[in-house]
Amino acid sequence: MKTIGVYTSGGDAPGMNACIRSVVRTAIYHGYNVKGVKRGYEGMIENEIIDLDRQSVANIIQRGGTFLKTARSEAFRTKEGREKAYHNLKAHNIDALVCIGGNGSYAGANVFYEEYGIPCVGLPGTIDNDLYGTDYTIGYDTAINTALDSIDRIRDTAHSHERVFIVEVMGRDSGFIALAVAIAGGAEGALIPEDIDDWGKVLEQLNRPDKRKKSFSIIVVAEGDEQGGALVLEKKLKLIYPDMKIRSTILGHVQRGGSPSARDRILASRLGSQAVNALMDGKKSVTVGLVSDKITFTPFLKAIEGKKTVSKDLIALADILSL
Ligand code: F6P
Repeated sequence: MKTIGVYTSGGDAPGMNACIRSVVRTAIYHGYNVKGVKRGYEGMIENEIIDLDRQSVANIIQRGGTFLKTARSEAFRTKEGREKAYHNLKAHNIDALVCIGGNGSYAGANVFYEEYGIPCVGLPGTIDNDLYGTDYTIGYDTAINTALDSIDRIRDTAHSHERVFIVEVMGRDSGFIALAVAIAGGAEGALIPEDIDDWGKVLEQLNRPDKRKKSFSIIVVAEGDEQGGALVLEKKLKLIYPDMKIRSTILGHVQRGGSPSARDRILASRLGSQAVNALMDGKKSVTVGLVSDKITFTPFLKAIEGKKTVSKDLIALADILSL
């Protein structure tokens, strides 16, 4: 191994820049060359590959987004796309890869290794925290703090106007963000894909005579909840409780931006450095994670197939505290 290529792929997440920086600096420290592939697999196919040195990653640890840019690539799903990518990597002498992304990105890297033998180590970058093989993903901590800040603000206006607010947070298939901010934001309920009884519990809560007298409430819903997003729920609730003053807010992509928290910068720095160590140890097709504060390596296929579950204790806690 002489030259490592690093790229970010899929949805961006705060801390990706800190992670790239760590990969680049660790690789240079150990005497390797590093190149950055722009726009994930799209840039690999389109030959958007740049040289990186220690200075290229100066002053980015605090920045949100990813300076290498990112994309979700359809072309890389095709044999022709991957063949082009291989020739471009070869032309740049890239003989190992570090991929910062999620399951879709790992799946691409896995097929690519099987076809062309270029080893790749993955790093979990997504705000959703739904990747198997790590307790926390890069970007999650910042995203929940961003969402929480908004919920605190919504609480002010909810209180003033005595309204029920339904706040939709990101989480396509999972409720990690919703559950965390519901607990930290003192919400009346969290609607998450992992709990099919939650809608009934929320209706019960809102219908309690003492709660009905209460002037305001906040319900957090994950975008992937089976009941629907905030706007659908608002309609449903208005039909059930016509006298209730209900509003919805969709936090959306605001959760994906912003300067990464200290936790995310440290996690990104630790995992990024370990990805280079893993390649140096001859590891391939594994993702690096942190489980109980220990560095772990999970084969791509296991990471893709594995289901990370939200804590049942946290679901129970959210119920108890919304009393
Ligand atoms: O996977 C991260 C995520 O932010 C999800 O929570 C969300 O559903 C999705 O990405 C949105 O993707 P896009 O930015 O492509 O619309």
